[in-house]
Amino acid sequence: MHASLLLVSALSASVCAAPTFPTISADTAVPDGINAVADYFNLLATKVQESRLLDKAPACDLSQAVLPSSSLPPPSPGVRLKHIAIGRGTQNYTCSTGNPSDAPKAIGALATLFNASCLATTDLDLASALARAALRFDLTQSQTAQKLVPSDLAVSGRHFFLGDGTPFFDLDVSPTWQLGELPCAKNGSAPAPADAPKGLNGEPAVPWLKLTAKQGATGGLQEVYRVKTVGGSAPATCEGMAASFEVQYWFYAK
Ligand SMILES: *[C@@H]1O[C@H](CO)[C@@H](O)[C@H](O)[C@H]1NC(C)=O
Ligand SMILES: *[C@@H]1O[C@H](CO)[C@@H](O)[C@H](O)[C@H]1NC(C)=O
Ligand SMILES: *[C@@H]1O[C@H](CO)[C@@H](O)[C@H](O)[C@H]1NC(C)=O
Repeated sequence: MHASLLLVSALSASVCAAPTFPTISADTAVPDGINAVADYFNLLATKVQESRLLDKAPACDLSQAVLPSSSLPPPSPGVRLKHIAIGRGTQNYTCSTGNPSDAPKAIGALATLFNASCLATTDLDLASALARAALRFDLTQSQTAQKLVPSDLAVSGRHFFLGDGTPFFDLDVSPTWQLGELPCAKNGSAPAPADAPKGLNGEPAVPWLKLTAKQGATGGLQEVYRVKTVGGSAPATCEGMAASFEVQYWFYAK
């Protein structure tokens, strides 16, 4: 009841107002998408209500953040959490043989990272609900707005693959806030939990990962966790070789 009311008002706001922004993509019409968007706005409304009862703003202290638990190896002794980002982008696959029955092979990813340090520290549930909802909004609008639509989170980095296949994170994108750069290698992998949200075409969530720095990392960056994944796995067939994903990246530095 509450969910549909909120969703209707959110939708009609974007129908009445011109120019419309942000636009919910057509994929939202599928029940799963409506639920993800409604869950986010309902949770947000609840949190806003709760925060009215607080007499001060919630603390935003990264040392209080708790990495979501998994079978991945824990952060190494001596590193500390530096940044939490929501990564939104595309995981690319190829079918080099051209045979539609062959399993697609991963060839890299391209993602924009948004600063979720404060949000994930104070409210991991809300950060995770945002990631699920954001997948239903137009990716190019987030890029144009430099915000993770439908939130206010600002761009804090980029993730892509180098020519030799090395995963690379650039956290030097802001002139005022330079965290460093990190070429890395996979150090551990764990399947996403069975109830992890699927992608726009029903593709399962990509595994959770631990990555460790390779030579050339700057800013003391040492380790990255990819957790709370949404979508991104290889499509079932060799058609449509890109899969959108949302993930959280947790960066640790010396
Ligand atoms: C992956 O796909 C994106 C979007 O379609 C594209 O811009 C990018 O160049 C591709 N990257 C690779 C490594 O294929
Ligand atoms: C990320 O957010 C935190 C907390 O609001 C802030 O201290 C930090 O400067 C931000 N970083 C970037 C790159 O915006
Ligand atoms: C993971 O990293 C640890 C610490 O750097 C290292 O000892 C271990 O060999 C690595 N494991 C894999 C599978 O890369």
